[in-house]
Amino acid sequence: MGDFLTIADIQAAASAIQKKTDHKPRVGMILGSGLGSLAESIENPHYVPYGEIPGWPVSGVKGHAGRLVLGSLEGQSVVVMQGRTHYYEGYDMPRLGLPVRVMQALGIEIIVITNAAGAVNPSFEPGDLMLITDHLNLIGMAGQNPLRGPNLEELGPRFPDMSQVYDRQLLSLTREVAAAEHLGLREGVYCCLAGPSFETPADLRFLRAAGVDAVGMSTVPEATIARHSGTRVLGVSGISNKANLDGETETTHEEVLEAGKVLAPKLTQLVRGVLRKL
Ligand code: HPA
Repeated sequence: MGDFLTIADIQAAASAIQKKTDHKPRVGMILGSGLGSLAESIENPHYVPYGEIPGWPVSGVKGHAGRLVLGSLEGQSVVVMQGRTHYYEGYDMPRLGLPVRVMQALGIEIIVITNAAGAVNPSFEPGDLMLITDHLNLIGMAGQNPLRGPNLEELGPRFPDMSQVYDRQLLSLTREVAAAEHLGLREGVYCCLAGPSFETPADLRFLRAAGVDAVGMSTVPEATIARHSGTRVLGVSGISNKANLDGETETTHEEVLEAGKVLAPKLTQLVRGVLRKL
């Protein structure tokens, strides 16, 4: 695989998956750190380990299973990424974009992107779910945009609009589900940083001043690729820790995974409710 993705790279990966399953997914899902258990309730599942898909970026991070699960959930045909790979693991952005491209090639119209995130908004608590209403593409502003390189005209425009990354209809549908099921959904702006080090108190005060509510190390590149080709995006953060704006508390990956145990059932309930209404 070269520096940038080609249509041939995407097709090679998609056909490796199609050889293992005849599911034709309409909805794609990416499950973040500690949130993978949603994939356990998928019916008639077919599994494809990432290592068996040519070019697929493979993750070694704890809390990420590292396989695709194809099957059905609430009557929808879905393809679920049980775990994702992050920029900090060393892959270049174009390569990190392959999974969303491949899910698009498999036929998805909608993608549900989830993550574990730190609360920058001081009123958010670990265990809260946050609907992503917009994002701050700080990593993209710093030059790391997955669309950098030759534009694949067949897939979308050179300069894609990002005025409405998170689909308004999916936002209202998700609000309805959360209200009906008393899930106490928060809303806000998500920011993706490169990681892997967590933020300093000064980083966090900067993000807060810039209007950020939750911070993590994913989602924004995936949402950018999704929108490039017109895939509708729903984004949900599971708040795993309070951000340490005053420098008094430490942040650890263990606490992120621990919070996932509380968050995963709530997230599962929310996503199942949304799928039922699609
Ligand atoms: N910062 C960045 N990424 C994260 C955090 C955090 O506090 N929590 C979970 N992912």
